[in-house]
Amino acid sequence: MLPEGPVARNQLSVFYVTLWVSIFIFLTVGGVLAYAQIRFRVKKGQEDDDVPPPQTHGHPMVEIGLIGVSILLLVIIAVPTIRGIWFQYDTPEPEDALVVTVTGYQWWFKFEYPELGIVTANELVIPTDRPIHLDLRTLDVIHSFWVPKLAGKVDLIPNRANHMWLQADQEGYYWGQCAEFCGESHANMKFRLVSLNEGDFEAWVERQTGEARNVSDDATAMTWSDLDPKIESASLEESDFSKPEVSSFEGWKRQQFPMGEETPELIEQGRKTFVDQKCVMCHTIRGHGAAGIIGPDLTHFGSRTTVAAGMLDNTTDHLADWLSQPEEVKPGNIMYRDGYVINKTELSEDDVQALVAYLHSLK
Ligand code: CUA
Repeated sequence: MLPEGPVARNQLSVFYVTLWVSIFIFLTVGGVLAYAQIRFRVKKGQEDDDVPPPQTHGHPMVEIGLIGVSILLLVIIAVPTIRGIWFQYDTPEPEDALVVTVTGYQWWFKFEYPELGIVTANELVIPTDRPIHLDLRTLDVIHSFWVPKLAGKVDLIPNRANHMWLQADQEGYYWGQCAEFCGESHANMKFRLVSLNEGDFEAWVERQTGEARNVSDDATAMTWSDLDPKIESASLEESDFSKPEVSSFEGWKRQQFPMGEETPELIEQGRKTFVDQKCVMCHTIRGHGAAGIIGPDLTHFGSRTTVAAGMLDNTTDHLADWLSQPEEVKPGNIMYRDGYVINKTELSEDDVQALVAYLHSLK
């Protein structure tokens, strides 16, 4: 697991300094101890009730020497550690940094880009080679933000404004995980981080700032290739949601665009189901009249590669599983507890199919 950004690299270098110093101390102390035990053990023929060896009461030069070596070893650890703390605390070039507010919920992450007016869930998309300043908040319990390849964990603490920064060297698709026990689905609170080159990031911003795609009004808007011709390829044409992708990152790129066959009538039916089943009470879909703020913003849900806080790939089957039995997928989740149970929601197979088609059309 190699670091892929300056913060993770700095943390790894501090770890190695500490590790090498610890190994040195272990070998030195252990070596002296082993030597003394072997050299001065009771030998054959010797009585073990012999008179004790001559006793000494300290050796000033040895003691001063040991104190000096201990201080030196601590300084060797302290200097890079303190420099690392400063380096990791202050976002470099704050004017150039992209600010993202991360909010933890039981059990998912909300990512807001205040300067860009974008809100996403469980997928943090960033440009490469640019510092990302993260403001870490939580609306319920303590969570912890962790993308192992890019930066160590920082907690999201109620009533406390924590922050951190990170940066990605190159394009990629990274795993993230809540790293602080936060309730029964803590282990299921995952997310992804996607880093894009500048051009792709700008194209992503352009798509995300728009309202949700509307298939019934504009059935011709089946491909967005005119928006970003780079991503058009033969494989894009034939890909569908249930097909295994070549790589997570390629899969993410494909997911940004409408794929395969779409049935406008089914999508329209799903849009009605979304209202009838009161999904609109908790979710926002900009441009479709849904403005709930309890659950994740779904305006561009179809462009995300995962569902249920990063637990499942966002395929037709998985989304259907999540909608028909949320409690099985992510135990304790609020959609089930405060939605399905209270509203006595019962989705027929048709409802689920229509909802899946509708949600996947939201690019
Ligand atoms: Cu959120 Cu653990």
